[in-house]
Amino acid sequence: MDNSTFETKSVITGPMHASLKHDSAHKHVTGQAEYIDDIPEPAGTLHGGLGLSDRAHAEIVSIDLDAVRAAPGVVHVLTAADIPGFNDVASTGQRDEPLLATDLVQFHGQPIFAVIAETRDQARRAARLAKIEYRDLPHWTDIDGARQNGAPLVVEPMVLTRGEPQTEIEKPPLRIQASMTIGGQEHLYLESHIAMAIPGEDDDITVWSSTQHPSEVQHMVAHVLGIANHAVTVQIRRMGGGFGGKETQGNQFAALAAVAAKKLDRAVKFRPDRDEDMAMTGKRHDFRVEYDVAFDEDGRIHALDATYAARCGFSADLSGPVTDRALFHADSSYFYPHVQVRSQPLKTHTVSNTAFRGFGGPQGMLGAERIIEEIAYALGKDPLEIRKLNFYGQPGSGRTTTPYHQEVEDNIIARVVEELEASSDYQARRQAIIDFNANSPVIRKGIALTPVKFGISFTMTAYNQAGALVHLYQDGSIHLNHGGTEMGQGLYTKVAQVVADTFQVDIDRVKITATTTGKVPNTSATAASSGTDLNGMAALDAARQLKERLVDFACRQWKVERKEVEFLPNCIRIGEDIVPFDTLVRAAYYDRVHLSAAGFYKTPDIHWDRKAGRGRPFFYYAYGAACSEVSIDTLTGEYMVDRTDILHDVGKSLNPAIDIGQIEGGFVQGMGWLTTEELWWDDKGRLRTHAPSTYKIPLASDRPKIFNVRLAEWSENPAATIGRSKAVGEPPFMLAISVLEAISMAVASVADYAVCPRLDAPATPERVLMAVERLKAM
Ligand code: MTE
Ligand code: MOS
Repeated sequence: MDNSTFETKSVITGPMHASLKHDSAHKHVTGQAEYIDDIPEPAGTLHGGLGLSDRAHAEIVSIDLDAVRAAPGVVHVLTAADIPGFNDVASTGQRDEPLLATDLVQFHGQPIFAVIAETRDQARRAARLAKIEYRDLPHWTDIDGARQNGAPLVVEPMVLTRGEPQTEIEKPPLRIQASMTIGGQEHLYLESHIAMAIPGEDDDITVWSSTQHPSEVQHMVAHVLGIANHAVTVQIRRMGGGFGGKETQGNQFAALAAVAAKKLDRAVKFRPDRDEDMAMTGKRHDFRVEYDVAFDEDGRIHALDATYAARCGFSADLSGPVTDRALFHADSSYFYPHVQVRSQPLKTHTVSNTAFRGFGGPQGMLGAERIIEEIAYALGKDPLEIRKLNFYGQPGSGRTTTPYHQEVEDNIIARVVEELEASSDYQARRQAIIDFNANSPVIRKGIALTPVKFGISFTMTAYNQAGALVHLYQDGSIHLNHGGTEMGQGLYTKVAQVVADTFQVDIDRVKITATTTGKVPNTSATAASSGTDLNGMAALDAARQLKERLVDFACRQWKVERKEVEFLPNCIRIGEDIVPFDTLVRAAYYDRVHLSAAGFYKTPDIHWDRKAGRGRPFFYYAYGAACSEVSIDTLTGEYMVDRTDILHDVGKSLNPAIDIGQIEGGFVQGMGWLTTEELWWDDKGRLRTHAPSTYKIPLASDRPKIFNVRLAEWSENPAATIGRSKAVGEPPFMLAISVLEAISMAVASVADYAVCPRLDAPATPERVLMAVERLKAM
């Protein structure tokens, strides 16, 4: 469809751009929302339990499963030999991820076999009875370990170059070389992974899977069963959170359930418990950013050379696109006249890391903000001043080209930052904090205002497409289906708003239905924040086709001109007549009008050449800024966030209430990543932080004590997106960088702000205390 013709005329009366409630909000809080584990189980449903590797890297010498098979309730013990198709669930096609290990294990927690039993409890107990003999191989679990072992890579690294970094980096008077270590993050979705497979006749199988990517689950199930895609239907009504953790990681549970269901001809459900889920599924990549930056006495960056090393785990999974996105955001909001950045996606003997909100972008951006801090402390200036000096300019300024050679054409960062600086009273508060610190021996405060600029689109161009299916029933009710999945972010509500708006009907008339590969095929993961951009447009396309048919019919039947047909709230004016929507639909049915339509959309104007490091990977950018104030206790390292002010750009919001929810949630999740959430593997390669008891996500009480979140209401997306809105899912996550940097300022105060504290993430209380002690000792 031609999206340039998208008119916003009708939205004034329709439900688009309105703060409608999330369609399931009341069901989430009352427990009535149906998750996969709530679906009534078919008679005879069996349950899976998992046998996991307890070595980080070893050959399997022998497996004795006799005791497992003899355990009460056990129906079958599934091994690689039971897999009729390929023993592989690698989302990349690299075939580096066996569904069940056979002769080699590459991380602690890798699945080796699965027990299928009458109850989940029986399956789990039986799984512990296996006797597996291993021959240990050398293992390493982190970036340093990988480098000491020849720096093996899981995918081809990427390099971005612009200008003449090698020679230009020698020129400016000032130069800093240092590094920053950035921790990973566990998704901790409230609903852990789950899949239920129900066998059908012939090759048929239906799988309910908690996945952001039903089409990929469909392809994987077909691949492991050795059957055609058409025999597999994958369905998902909602996830209890995904955050990127269910982009590829659901494949293994769905594939196991499917193999067992086909083998035993009974429904099979897999639902790992929390500890297993945390050990078995990939997380955010930790990074080491090594930077060499040259700048002038004002603080203007002249050249940057940096390496972004990442802990990828044992296989590729999404490490390619994640480390690429770190480089795409290595500029944050700043123009680098001369730059070279490169990724180093390292193989480690840990679970394969995967997508997590921001997809490497947060790590890349955090590196850039650390560089700004370095320059500011070196020059004795406010980091905000250095930021402003280095922002991308407006078209024509000669300061608009990114390291990947895309022009930043829609830059509003200066305005966003300026408005927030004023509304948060940044300057006066910063001075007050400096005064406070001068007289406060134990408690110290810090404040920081940091920007966000996030590129929207999948960097894999083919993923930027979507489909939708809309039916009109004879009673005037509307059935909506599309390829996007709901994980709490409000996608289903927003797309329903688009459809309701197109027909000018109440939102309740639109039935939101579970995502299924049987209705809309070949869909992309709901990821890269582009769910609404893509599926909203596809649904609009479908709804408009139906609207056109209704208009044609009305013209024929009433013998009027097109301009005499107007869609009003829940009715249509046709000439002199006002016809209720349902009456028109029923009349159209009797006139044999086709009342079902499939819609399609693909993002225009994007392309990317990874080898050349050039192109236009992003359709547009989303912007935002946050100002956070913190207090730290210099005797214990404990801290709290006293106040955060956010101004965020969602273009013309499709649903301000939902968007603000995404901004608050994203910010708090980002705060957790940078403060209390710490993943820790022991020297055996065991993840020791495998439950909320040892892995601390933010509580409601950790949110900023004062939390002011506003949308940049004046913003409209210059790109022709649905209703001129902008994606909101991931960008706000990076607003949390302001918290880390505010903590950093509070720490710096103990040495009179003369030294950049180089606080690594996560800034746990221990790390903060150590940083304070280090500076005191200087
Ligand atoms: N919000 C909630 N409540 N739960 C989630 O799992 N995932 C985030 C974000 N917001 C998530 C969320 C991630 S990682 C992405 S990519 C987007 O939502 C995906 O949805 P969208 O494309 O519809 O914004
Ligand atoms: Mo989001 S990390 O792109 O699922």
